[in-house]
Amino acid sequence: MNPALEQTLDGMVAIITGSAGGVGRASAVEFARRGARICVADLDENGGRETAERVVSDGGKAFFQPTDVSLSTSVESMVRATVERYGGLHILYNNAAATRLCNKDDRPVTELPEWVWDKMIAVCLKSVYLCCKFGIPEIKKAGGGCVINTSTVDAMIGSPGYDAYTAAKGGVIAITRSMAVEYARDRIRVNCIAPGNVESDHADMGFTSPDARKISESLHLTRLGRPSDIARFAAFLASPQSEYITGGIFNIDGGYTAFKAGEETIYAAYKPLDAMGKQGR
Ligand SMILES: NC(=O)c1ccc[n+]([C@@H]2O[C@H](COP(=O)([O-])OP(=O)(O)OC[C@H]3O[C@@H](n4cnc5c(N)ncnc54)[C@H](O)[C@@H]3O)[C@@H](O)[C@H]2O)c1
Repeated sequence: MNPALEQTLDGMVAIITGSAGGVGRASAVEFARRGARICVADLDENGGRETAERVVSDGGKAFFQPTDVSLSTSVESMVRATVERYGGLHILYNNAAATRLCNKDDRPVTELPEWVWDKMIAVCLKSVYLCCKFGIPEIKKAGGGCVINTSTVDAMIGSPGYDAYTAAKGGVIAITRSMAVEYARDRIRVNCIAPGNVESDHADMGFTSPDARKISESLHLTRLGRPSDIARFAAFLASPQSEYITGGIFNIDGGYTAFKAGEETIYAAYKPLDAMGKQGR
């Protein structure tokens, strides 16, 4: 059998947060191609509608639900709208993050404004709690399914200048394991993807110079990541093919965490951001 066909998501309903672009949009397209019906949930209304339209024009099923994942009432509406529309929920993919805030305003703790810390924790960590609080009861009702969380290699290996982001994403790793244990009895698998540097225009990750790009490449053993690299792995984690996999933290990172980069490279990769007012790598 074609391995891609074995990873079918036929009949499943998925919420993908932060799917107005980047990894989330690529995942919405990939999940729908494998048969899932998708709730595209995002703050960005134009991008979110575009994603849903793209899925539908490819022959899939999706709708856009304007959502702020850091607000309880908004998350509750997101889950309710999905269940009303598609009759249940099987897959919750927590992908949304405050990537612009991270690139522009995150700092070492001594220089980090308190509002940035609070906002980062709310969008990148509290959101996982809220989406699971309202989403997991519906997955239980459906007889089981999965949660996919999103961390980063920056939560595995010290990266200077991103203290709010790394703290929030470290919390995502910890809660992935505790939720995996708690909800195994309900046939709900909980896993986490930690991407390396993924080229995502939407996240303003555009490199500011060829040198910056070269340094980022030197932190990987392969080319830089593409949203589709993460989307394909997420689709595998969502599929019955991964029924033996839970509580896992997966570095999908082109080898970023496989070796120790020299201090010079690390500082070259992160120091210029200060000079550029953190406009992106
Ligand atoms: N791109 C990378 O290099 C990289 C590396 C490691 C981890 N990640 C993680 O992968 C995930 C996807 O990243 P991406 O590169 O596609 O970023 P992205 O900025 O393209 O996508 C993030 C999405 O989240 C949405 N969002 C932000 N705040 C929100 C809120 N309060 N409520 C709802 N939606 C909100 C944004 O509108 C955006 O569509 C993120 O969790 C990010 O932290 C990305």
